[in-house]
Amino acid sequence: MSIRYNAENGVISLETRGTLYQMQADDYGMLLHIYYGRKLAGEDAVRLLRYTDRGFSGNPYTRTNGRGYSADTLPQEYGGCNTGDYRVSAVSLVLADGSRGAELLFEDYEILEGKYTIPGMPYVRAGASRPQTLRVRLRDRVSGLAADLYYGVFEEEDVITRTVCLINEGTEPITLEKAASMSIDFPFAPEGGFEVMHFHGRHCMERIPERLPLGRGVVSFGSMRGMSSHHNNPFAILCAPVTTEDAGECYGFMLAYSGNHKEEFEVDQAGSTRVTAGIAQENFSWRLAPGECFFAPEAILSFSAEGFNGLSHCFHRILRRNVIPERFAGLKRPVLVNSWEAMYMDFNADKLLKLAADAKALDMDMLVLDDGWFGKRDRDDSGLGDWYVNEKKLGCTMKQLAEKVNALGMKFGLWVEPEMISEDSDLYRAHPDWAVCDPGRKPVLSRNQLVLDMSREDVQEYLFEALGRILRDAPISYLKWDFNRAVANVYSNALPKDRQGEFSHRFVLGTYALLERLAESFPEVMIEGCAGGGGRFDAGMLYYCPQIWCSDDTDPVERLEIQRGTSYGYPACSMGAHVSASPNHQTGRQTPFGLRGMTAMAGTFGYELDPGKLSDAEKEQVREQIADFRRYDRLLREGRYYRLGNHPELSDHQAWMVAAEDGSEALLTAVITHVRANGPFIRICLKGLDASAVYRVAAYRISGVTFEKTAVGETYGGAALMYAGISLPLLYGDYPSVQIYFKKER
Ligand code: GLA
Repeated sequence: MSIRYNAENGVISLETRGTLYQMQADDYGMLLHIYYGRKLAGEDAVRLLRYTDRGFSGNPYTRTNGRGYSADTLPQEYGGCNTGDYRVSAVSLVLADGSRGAELLFEDYEILEGKYTIPGMPYVRAGASRPQTLRVRLRDRVSGLAADLYYGVFEEEDVITRTVCLINEGTEPITLEKAASMSIDFPFAPEGGFEVMHFHGRHCMERIPERLPLGRGVVSFGSMRGMSSHHNNPFAILCAPVTTEDAGECYGFMLAYSGNHKEEFEVDQAGSTRVTAGIAQENFSWRLAPGECFFAPEAILSFSAEGFNGLSHCFHRILRRNVIPERFAGLKRPVLVNSWEAMYMDFNADKLLKLAADAKALDMDMLVLDDGWFGKRDRDDSGLGDWYVNEKKLGCTMKQLAEKVNALGMKFGLWVEPEMISEDSDLYRAHPDWAVCDPGRKPVLSRNQLVLDMSREDVQEYLFEALGRILRDAPISYLKWDFNRAVANVYSNALPKDRQGEFSHRFVLGTYALLERLAESFPEVMIEGCAGGGGRFDAGMLYYCPQIWCSDDTDPVERLEIQRGTSYGYPACSMGAHVSASPNHQTGRQTPFGLRGMTAMAGTFGYELDPGKLSDAEKEQVREQIADFRRYDRLLREGRYYRLGNHPELSDHQAWMVAAEDGSEALLTAVITHVRANGPFIRICLKGLDASAVYRVAAYRISGVTFEKTAVGETYGGAALMYAGISLPLLYGDYPSVQIYFKKER
């Protein structure tokens, strides 16, 4: 039983393999957060609750037994608003009479087998796990607003999911202005205070970790771009100052949501820390007529007492097994060649078929035709929305092209950017009101394009028909689903003026609805998410797309940072990563082919170049890389990924590894980011091996120059590899790297 209710003291315990989460419905009706952390051998932590009279922290009117009872000082599970808790609130609303209060008090609870679902939105699926659901009902007795707090408890996975359903059970409409997915209070901080790690970035440099001490006041991260964004990922970690990659406590909070979001961290007057996460409050409102309800996006929580790597393993596992569509979870990912950096928009069928044939000769699996194949689209200022094939440019139909690619033994994939529209398009000329723009203004242009109003059903219908036609007409195995600008001028011509605050969330729901319909009609088509690279890299998109293009920056040295940052929350098998040409198209940096292969192997692996332009030696390397990737495919997809070392920015190298869960094999990759003359030796301690086993070095690849002999065939004890480590050979050249494959021998 992972959920328990103690009738004596009202404590509800959610237990997973390594964690305990406790709340208490007290006799007044406040739902107090008691504890989240390591298990307590069956006990509860209710003795940690403290009551004291803090000046200017008021007391509920009917709570007559003293001034020590205050919504402002007690740890809340999901507090109300305008009722005496002055910290960052979980909800904010306006009632029909203009008042703005809600006192959310406990009413009842229910424990259910299985996992709750969320209509129209992504959530962690039950899958092969055996989750339980806790539903706790809170209610504001004046307005009739009910808040159903849902908790999904994934025992084996050490994950707790949360969402809230707000229901208007009153007789008058209620306007929500904030509806957080979760709120949690930590009354006690670790020695030195909590720190928060968040993942900021920009186009071509996404998910860069930044770790900050939390002082008094509120720190928040989020996006108002209509997308989860390159700039602030909807994932953050709360940790102790002493927490490292491999030791110490940390909590992860991740939203399964792709639109505007906000994560807030507040340290209050007494040092208590509140974390809330959900749809951003700015520009948001939602009208709830009597009888209507509103579901907040799902939040995924995990706790690790084994540092950030331990936390990452929990997130990787739940995303891989319970969020990514099951039909793709165990599937070998195709090694693809993408036409974008190979030929941009300058192609026709002959060039593409040559690309496919050259790729096939090197053993690749799929050709992806990127931007430029539809409508009038030779530049990026026209054509979006006109999802019909430019046969004149191609020189044939899409069906003919795809069939010829198939005949070469290659699968065929296609790029689309459904949520966008160009002013210079037939679609815009026919439906200018489908483009997002507020009345009387000229819209903000970005990459010369406008955004389609995805909140409209007619727009969704148009896209479903248009994409469906393409998918039915030609044998297409894969779509790359792009989104190349942020949303501005938010306004829908289809919404009444007092409901415009619903636009941004309805936009996201519209995209999800379209993705859902396409998945139902074309389940075999794999969709790779993309948004100018990794601008919508979130668990919401992963629910539909098993992989997401990680960044438009394909420089392997830059990718070291991007992929490492991404790996805190997201598994390697979700990170789109390709070998591209050198000099790199984004940075102009020249890097060895071997390094490019090894970094792309920390993701889904593929090529973003014209194989016909490679030298014979490089072609040989492609063959080897693909053979390596196929050999390690399962290990890379299902193994535990470890970041090695805590401060790559202070070091001359960067290393990571993947170890099979049962310790049977492991792949170590290390890149020397700064080669030094007469440099020091580098030692690397491995992780996740079986300490008592013996491992053989079954493969050893070096990219770069060394004068030392490599250790293929040598054997090491698991304990020796983990605690004494291995010393790398001295390596020379530009960005030399090594990849060592260990196989358990006995
Ligand atoms: C975005 C993508 C690229 C490419 C271009 C095409 O920037 O991230 O990979 O598809 O669009 O316009």
